[in-house]
Amino acid sequence: MPMIQWTQEFTTGVEAIDNDHKVLISLINQLGEAIRSGEPQPTVRRVLDELVEYTSYHFNREEALMEACRYPDLEAHRRTHTTLKVQVADIRDRYARHPEAVHAREILALLKNWLSAHIMGRDKLYAPFMAAKREEVRAAADSFTTRTAGSAPAIAAQQHLAAVQP
Ligand SMILES: [Fe+2]
Ligand SMILES: [Fe+2]
Repeated sequence: MPMIQWTQEFTTGVEAIDNDHKVLISLINQLGEAIRSGEPQPTVRRVLDELVEYTSYHFNREEALMEACRYPDLEAHRRTHTTLKVQVADIRDRYARHPEAVHAREILALLKNWLSAHIMGRDKLYAPFMAAKREEVRAAADSFTTRTAGSAPAIAAQQHLAAVQP
């Protein structure tokens, strides 16, 4: 049973961003499963590495799209991303150093909270701005996809989406 389910409440109305959020939710659920079922530490570490990498990739895409629609709160949003990137990298590093000292429930609660709170709270605020500049946002999304084609997160996204979409 996944910890977080994708629902319409998460929708921002921008397909590339919604897909990224689905991948992030899939990674958090995978992490939860790995920890719950007592997978070996290298497996948990691999998922944490992937989560750190995908978080950064997603934030870069989101920031490019916010720039494209001239989102007025971009700088504050970017600062929140920086904080979240530090937090998720810190969890990964703590786990790598002392896996026994990191409590699974604590990690998962934190990840679940920041992800849900960020998507449901801050990310939804840019939705009307992106809707008002649909063409510019689409061009920026296409350009980001072209720039990052073949990168590890772009390839991982295909696999996650294939697994979660009907
Ligand atoms: Fe986001
Ligand atoms: Fe965001």
